[in-house]
Amino acid sequence: MSYTDGPIIQLTDLTKRYGDRPVLTGLSLTVAPGIHALLGPNGAGKTTLIDILTTLRPHDDGAATVLGLDLATSGADIRRRISVTGQFATVDEVLTGRENLIMMARLLGLSSRAARSRADELLDRFDLAAAADRRASTYSGGMRRRLDLAVSLIWPPEILFLDEPTTGLDAHSRLALWQQIRELAEHGTNVFLTTQYLEEADALADEISVLDHGGIVARGSAAELKERVGGAMLTLLDDDGVVVDEIPTDGSARDLARLTAAVAVDRPGLVVELRRPTLDDAFLQLTGHIGGPATTPEAA
Ligand SMILES: Nc1ncnc2c1ncn2[C@@H]1O[C@H](COP(=O)(O)OP(=O)(O)OP(=O)(O)O)[C@@H](O)[C@H]1O
Ligand SMILES: [Mg+2]
Repeated sequence: MSYTDGPIIQLTDLTKRYGDRPVLTGLSLTVAPGIHALLGPNGAGKTTLIDILTTLRPHDDGAATVLGLDLATSGADIRRRISVTGQFATVDEVLTGRENLIMMARLLGLSSRAARSRADELLDRFDLAAAADRRASTYSGGMRRRLDLAVSLIWPPEILFLDEPTTGLDAHSRLALWQQIRELAEHGTNVFLTTQYLEEADALADEISVLDHGGIVARGSAAELKERVGGAMLTLLDDDGVVVDEIPTDGSARDLARLTAAVAVDRPGLVVELRRPTLDDAFLQLTGHIGGPATTPEAA
């Protein structure tokens, strides 16, 4: 029976340190079913949290449940009901795509016949049928990611954890993977993913939480996070159309009059434009810095 009531993950005052270096310092988070994106800069502790939630690493203090089960006491039960695709591809390079899938299916206890048929199904679904009998060492980065994802779906999980699923992929592969993640969610798989890409969180997630300085500094839908920046951004451009400054505003006539009056005095030659805030603006506002690549390379 699948777990459908209440939050799929509940964390209260979770702490984790490596030696005397604190990484998570009292992290609290409730995750509802659907797609949840954990957004954070390099070194924020995203992989650490994924490792804790998938029982690969113990936490120090605090309470944590996954699918309503206590992480501290029900690790084995949790492991049977979740799946994880790590930050770095883990496929066996010497084996073909098909062999990778069959091997993992056999390890999970499927009969030889069931393993073959499940492998075929997943190879088709992840566009790997044509490359199925080539060694994984000849696969592109995008193909490896897809194979990794296929491996983690041999046994349908109730929560799929994805640690930076599209980092390093080109635009085409990223969009294809996004589509596959959406389809999974539409078929009822809960997804908890980490990303450094604001655009990715915006494109996929029902809800976003922002991890920084050891805890969750904000959470909400992309729209809600953008709203926290204020109604709009006042953009100042020079003669050549180059942006020289951006000022958050609530968008009211009073605020705009005040800001444009100040600009008219200080920098009368500049052109003023109003634009909706992006998730980048929200992230910058919430964390005080843009960590890692603020947008995907092709969007930059
Ligand atoms: N096994 C470890 N031993 C000691 N320190 C570690 C270990 N793993 C991670 N750290 C440190 O903990 C902090 C968080 O690392 P983590 O890998 O969880 O961050 P991340 O958000 O996943 O970063 P990235 O975006 O680069 O993947 C970093 O400062 C890192 O150097
Ligand atoms: Mg990481």
